[in-house]
Amino acid sequence: MQFKINPKNPSSAALRVVPIFESETGKLQTENLGFSPPSSFLFSGKKDSSYSFESGDQLVLLIGLGKEPDYKTIETSYRRILSKSSSLVEKEVFLDFPDTFTAEQTEAALVGFRLGSYSIGFYKKEKPKDFHKLKVEVGSSLDKAKSLAERAEKIADAKIEAFKLVDLPPNKITPEYLADWAKDLGKKSKLDIKVLDAKKAKSEGLEAFLAVGRGSAKEPKFIILEYRHPKAKLHVGLVGKGVTFDTGGLNVKTQGMHHMKSDMGGAAAVLATTQLISDLGLHVNLTAIVPAVENAIDKDAYLPSEVIGSHAGLSIEVIDTDAEGRLILADGLSYLIKNYKTDQVIDLATLTGSAIGTFGYECAALFSNDDTLSHGLQQAGEMIGEKSWPLPLWDEYGKEMDSEIADIKNYHGKPFAGAITAAKFLQAFTHEHPAWAHLDIAGVAFGDTEFAKTKTGTAYGVSLLLTYIESQL
Ligand code: BES
Ligand code: MN
Ligand code: ZN
Repeated sequence: MQFKINPKNPSSAALRVVPIFESETGKLQTENLGFSPPSSFLFSGKKDSSYSFESGDQLVLLIGLGKEPDYKTIETSYRRILSKSSSLVEKEVFLDFPDTFTAEQTEAALVGFRLGSYSIGFYKKEKPKDFHKLKVEVGSSLDKAKSLAERAEKIADAKIEAFKLVDLPPNKITPEYLADWAKDLGKKSKLDIKVLDAKKAKSEGLEAFLAVGRGSAKEPKFIILEYRHPKAKLHVGLVGKGVTFDTGGLNVKTQGMHHMKSDMGGAAAVLATTQLISDLGLHVNLTAIVPAVENAIDKDAYLPSEVIGSHAGLSIEVIDTDAEGRLILADGLSYLIKNYKTDQVIDLATLTGSAIGTFGYECAALFSNDDTLSHGLQQAGEMIGEKSWPLPLWDEYGKEMDSEIADIKNYHGKPFAGAITAAKFLQAFTHEHPAWAHLDIAGVAFGDTEFAKTKTGTAYGVSLLLTYIESQL
């Protein structure tokens, strides 16, 4: 799909898409559009509504956006076009934007439109419709329309990559696949990629990470991506949970195990964000770490009650092998902080069912020891529709993780405060870094949407991290 700017000339494309805001009076403001508006009984520009009709040789599709649409509303409305109304689309589409459409609104629309080309039918005999050759004329009078369209393409491509990494099955998305994905990105862009295999991870002391991987036939990979810009004044560190499948280990899961192909949602967000930051050439330094591992069962699998080591040097009593995410993140965080000294550290992880119990599927649980960082993330997410809300890191919760036999245990074994105690566990491995944030994205990385009949990847984190990082530049 190619975006081509057409600054306000009429287009002969078979389909013309026009966004309509809901007007106070109920009367559509379509004076400049060259067609008579439908009666307000049929269409009044309400959010989530649309209306199509023929005008001359053209099919016109009106997209209702409501009164004051936010970024996500516009993105979702435009995603519906290819995702749901692809029968209206042939070789060419004209996305016609009124002069009042802002740069941000245009970006949201273009990102959404491109996301509509994504479909998860990867393994079907009948392949989903291919939009690669689709010509998309962008009717915008904005000065920077061209750079805006290029930016939107990059954002959408990163999000699609994040969708895919979560949606593809765990026999495809293995730790090795994620490592190769990073290496490929390194070849395409100016990124430095390092992958530690099990042997190298051992020599680096990543013992908690390796313990989780012991029960799997698939070799764990500890992936490091370094993006550097000569004009950077800020160094951001990211860590993403990359459990390519979570059986629970010997504390085997009994419910909904098939959803656990999404247990690398944090990794997907971190990898896709790294791709995007580098595609956009942002003036920032970024170091991203993805501990990638499968939590499986086998004669070598780690046992509940084992005491294992960690990169930070703390011994860990394993109460529950299903609390594996915090073990690999502990090593990811410690390794990043000891070796890279980034100004800020942000981890994203599908960490606890408790985060879902607290916030459902709308909002991630946010933890941070730095108020500015916490507010920045919360606000960035609010702006682009990836919500998060803070929970406390009070010491009393940390006491719950005290172990008799080791320095710390990985589960307090009690039916309360699961997301908070998990965050406290992580904090013990951050070497008191002054600006650390943890996003528990268990409820938001993978979910039901109008775009598929099963749960699918949401790319939660990509727009959030982009917006947050850009807000600091
Ligand atoms: N990957 C899961 C958390 C999860 C649950 C993500 C549901 C998405 C949807 C994590 O590894 C896990 O198993 N957490 C346990 C921890 C418990 C054993 C301490 C949980 O939350 O139940
Ligand atoms: Mn688990
Ligand atoms: Zn998990």
